[in-house]
Amino acid sequence: MQSKSVTVIGALLAMTLVSFVGCREEREDRRADGRRCIIGMSQCNLGEHWRVQMNADIKKTAERHPEIKMVFKDAQNDTLKQRAHIEELISAGVDVIIISPKEAQPLTDPVAKAMDAGIPVIVLDRRVLGDRYTCFIGADNKLIGKAAGEWVAKRLGGTGRVVELKGLMTSTPGQDRHSGFREGIKGSRIEVVFEADMKWLEPAARKEMESALARFDKIDLVYAHNDPGAHGAYLAAAAAGRAEGMLFVGIDALPHEGVMYVNQGILDATFLYPTGGEKAIDVALKICAGDQVPKEIVLGSRIFTKENLPQGGEAIGAP
Ligand code: FRU
Repeated sequence: MQSKSVTVIGALLAMTLVSFVGCREEREDRRADGRRCIIGMSQCNLGEHWRVQMNADIKKTAERHPEIKMVFKDAQNDTLKQRAHIEELISAGVDVIIISPKEAQPLTDPVAKAMDAGIPVIVLDRRVLGDRYTCFIGADNKLIGKAAGEWVAKRLGGTGRVVELKGLMTSTPGQDRHSGFREGIKGSRIEVVFEADMKWLEPAARKEMESALARFDKIDLVYAHNDPGAHGAYLAAAAAGRAEGMLFVGIDALPHEGVMYVNQGILDATFLYPTGGEKAIDVALKICAGDQVPKEIVLGSRIFTKENLPQGGEAIGAP
């Protein structure tokens, strides 16, 4: 009786192993002849224009390649949901995973798990911890933050009171845009009088700005880690009748968002933050073809002000 159940367990194990190896071999085959490249895209949310644009860039680029099949997942700004999505993509046996993680730490393990299962992972825009991924693609947020700080110090003549509305501080762009900015204003007499985590969200930024306005009679400039945040701050200041003479700086520079706000005189500056969607598909195709890809791909930025619209200023970082 006992030996019979041992045999059954053995057979089951063997079957699992065969199907696992078979699945992997099939994936290798598909990659080698470039016939089929199934890409799972895990987006952390689609609540902001910038992320809708990232998915649109991915879709548009993927559609130029008939061998690509896209599987899109939207975690709706829920970390647990995004963790589950990665598990699902692993079980589905996709050829490549692209992830734009909501937060660094909680998505690190699922990404490592995919790598362990032999599925290459492209991490886009926000980082995970450590180096268990295939390729990271994104702009240098520290450099952008620093450029913003230097621009602010210059624009305010080296002195002034600033409000900093930070992106989600458990995500790497929030951390880097903060530390970079502080580096950029170093040596000036710029004082950050109020700072708060608005989690990348316009309504939260508006609320935080209301608190800042209530506490400080004089605010010269708002530095928000993204354009929705800067816009939320502007709306709060405008509603309080204090937007006049106050400066607003953001990051993203989407044509129909940040750049449009600059054109309308709502924002004074915004820094380009490319979505990297097109690049991610280029890299995924290389992976599917069995080619080597670089571990890090740094995308460039540029500043947009009323003076340099529509093309923007000099390249910041990579061209
Ligand atoms: C969208 C967004 C952008 C920002 C990026 C940082 O979710 O908040 O506005 O630049 O994420 O990861």
